[in-house]
Amino acid sequence: MSINFNKNHNINCSYREHLNGHRTCLLWFTGLSGSGKSTIAGLVEEKLHAMGKRTYLLDGDNVRHGLNGDLGFSDADRFENIRRIGELARLFVDAGMITLAAFISPFRVDRNNVRELMGEGDFIEVFIDTPLATCEQRDPKGLYHRARNGEIKHFTGIDSAYEPPEAPELRIVNDGIQPHESAEQVIRHLQANGYLGQ
Ligand code: ADX
Repeated sequence: MSINFNKNHNINCSYREHLNGHRTCLLWFTGLSGSGKSTIAGLVEEKLHAMGKRTYLLDGDNVRHGLNGDLGFSDADRFENIRRIGELARLFVDAGMITLAAFISPFRVDRNNVRELMGEGDFIEVFIDTPLATCEQRDPKGLYHRARNGEIKHFTGIDSAYEPPEAPELRIVNDGIQPHESAEQVIRHLQANGYLGQ
């Protein structure tokens, strides 16, 4: 159940949840670049869509180029990136969507600020815990290679910190398993905790 912060209007999140036949929540995928966050979040969205659930996926492709196109990768810019995404995600959750957000979000305090924004039980932190060595070996965009060569500064895991979640709702070691299996773990968590309704 989302926070009702639109008190001047009669239609609130509960009405939308009722119409949709399922709860809303924010699935927050965090992990290193190349850990598989976006891929897994995309598969989770496909599975939910096939089950008739209303969803929306926020990731670097639709946020960092537009709304956050003015931000880089300094600590301050990453803070602002996650702050804006948190506010945006809150609106999507209020709109009744099962909202998926896939961002490195390396700093614990920034992720916890988003958790605080959300209603009780609405924030599900999914830690995609893929070892740095595996991410670096995958290097899908060649960015680790460039970071090691000093061509990219402040790269997460190389010369900028990643603070792993201390108590995520879900931790998935996405190493040596298929992304579909990782996505299934998320679906099972949602089913087991009553998020998906009938
Ligand atoms: S976050 O740290 O602010 O949460 P975000 O998830 O939006 O990062 O963007 C990360 C993506 O931007 C990476 O997957 C990578 O493709 C790209 N990127 C470019 N520069 C950096 C950098 N210095 N550190 C991490 N990712 C970078």
